[in-house]
Amino acid sequence: MTDTVFSTTLLPAEDACRFDPPTYPCLIVILGASGDLAGRKIIPSLYRLFLLHLLPRDFAVLGCSRTQLDSPLFRSRLQHSIEQAGADMSRWQEFSEKLYYQQLLYEERASFDALADAIARISDTHKTGANCLYYLALPPFLFETVITLLGQAGLAAEPSGAWRRIIVEKPFGSDLQSAMRLDAILSDCFQERQIFRIDHYLAKETVQNILAFRFANAILRPLWSRKYIEYIDICALETLGIEQRAGYYEKAGVLRDMFQNHMLQLLSLVAMEPPAQFQTETVRTRKAAVFKALRPFALENITDHIALGQYTEGAMDGHLVPGYRQEQGVDPQSLTPTFATMKVFVDNRRWQGVPFYLTSGKRMREKETKIIVQFRDVSRSLFKSDKMLCCGPNRLTFSIQPQEKITLSFRAKNPGPVMCFRPIDLEFCYAGDRGEGLEAYEKVLIDCLNGDQMLSLRQDSEELCWAFLTPLIQDCEQCIRTEQILHFYPAGSPGPAEAEKIRMNQ
Ligand SMILES: NC(=O)c1ccc[n+]([C@@H]2O[C@H](COP(=O)([O-])OP(=O)(O)OC[C@H]3O[C@@H](n4cnc5c(N)ncnc54)[C@H](OP(=O)(O)O)[C@@H]3O)[C@@H](O)[C@H]2O)c1
Repeated sequence: MTDTVFSTTLLPAEDACRFDPPTYPCLIVILGASGDLAGRKIIPSLYRLFLLHLLPRDFAVLGCSRTQLDSPLFRSRLQHSIEQAGADMSRWQEFSEKLYYQQLLYEERASFDALADAIARISDTHKTGANCLYYLALPPFLFETVITLLGQAGLAAEPSGAWRRIIVEKPFGSDLQSAMRLDAILSDCFQERQIFRIDHYLAKETVQNILAFRFANAILRPLWSRKYIEYIDICALETLGIEQRAGYYEKAGVLRDMFQNHMLQLLSLVAMEPPAQFQTETVRTRKAAVFKALRPFALENITDHIALGQYTEGAMDGHLVPGYRQEQGVDPQSLTPTFATMKVFVDNRRWQGVPFYLTSGKRMREKETKIIVQFRDVSRSLFKSDKMLCCGPNRLTFSIQPQEKITLSFRAKNPGPVMCFRPIDLEFCYAGDRGEGLEAYEKVLIDCLNGDQMLSLRQDSEELCWAFLTPLIQDCEQCIRTEQILHFYPAGSPGPAEAEKIRMNQ
């Protein structure tokens, strides 16, 4: 049993934490506005920011997609879904007066000229000046065409004194080559400071807190290296299967879906060197340095480093769920991995020899995202009896989902006449303390409106991550070794046993 000590000393938000809404007026243009992301995340997030008085005074939202809709219909569809989600509707009317819809045919230049006219008209009505934020909420195969046509229609160029920015959601390319091509197309039309490659995961409070915790607490500084840390374990486990996304998932698999972005980003936050200043470019440069130091996989010994898995039929919450190959739209012989564990090394002075275990999977027993920093044990000569050291060495855990908390586990003396230990957890939990905390998409939007690129991925980092994973992905896709490293696990289990072997084989 572990005792838990809760830290409850939470200071109210003081002036230092006060956030002033962006002052620049802006028109937010959502491309793919009839889709899931726009309806479930982007527009509800904008509405919540509006409720919190965190949007600029002068703003408007223009939704575009192929579907034939008009603005009133667009508004009423959104009203319905936002109501269903249980939002406070008291200011909906006021918000919805700033919502517009324009049909857009993604491959037609004339449609983009009409979009330019609509932008000019709405900007004029709502006094948003010429500032525009484009949100690509589209399937990735449309990105290149849409970016090119935005450029050709003159929508990327910044009129004097105004800004134009573009948000590109992950997945950003499907391998190194496609990511570089997309970057080339983007940089034909936009400058790097205008481009926000986002992974909303990084905007979660607990993820951001990794940097705060590491760099604002001097006591951790001397401990944060190979000298005191034995290994780092990053896992993102889901109970869900692929839902209705077979088309996407069959092509992506877990390596593209989770590792190229979320998992490597989490690794970079844990492993990066302290920046000289907590500023956008210095932080992004430190992150890029981690990606540069990733040791390439030795494909000839791949089974020492990677175990892939695919779920089969199994029981989840007492219900039988189908295996991946039985999911609608999935090839019955599919070799697409839905699970992976990999052992990764960061070859620099700080981390030489320390394994980073990255694990992600679908249809797992539990839904959980966390980072465990496992410290080395005290010298065995100090406490000779195993009984005394019954519980494990220190461990720091950043829990990201479903609970958002930080836990430090340590040993304390068990009360009584004998010198023996018991485990104690010191825990800080975000639950109930969210205050004015923003949800991930809200934070992403605010940052983009403010032009703050701290959480968005810079081109070099994006490409370095692909450069690291692409040889592995290609190796798997050419089936050279897939059958050797792909193991089946029943839905509702902790994953294939081979994943555990990767960890044992330090
Ligand atoms: N949904 C999420 O929670 C989520 C999370 C993270 C990242 N993302 C990423 O965000 C982007 C948008 O995701 P989403 O879930 O909103 O996508 P979606 O619903 O499948 O598609 C968005 C819109 O794109 C248009 N579209 C879809 N398929 C098309 C096709 N074959 N040809 C032309 N237009 C098509 C549709 O609008 P019209 O037919 O009206 O044009 C659709 O409403 C994707 O890149 C996705 O990977 C989504």
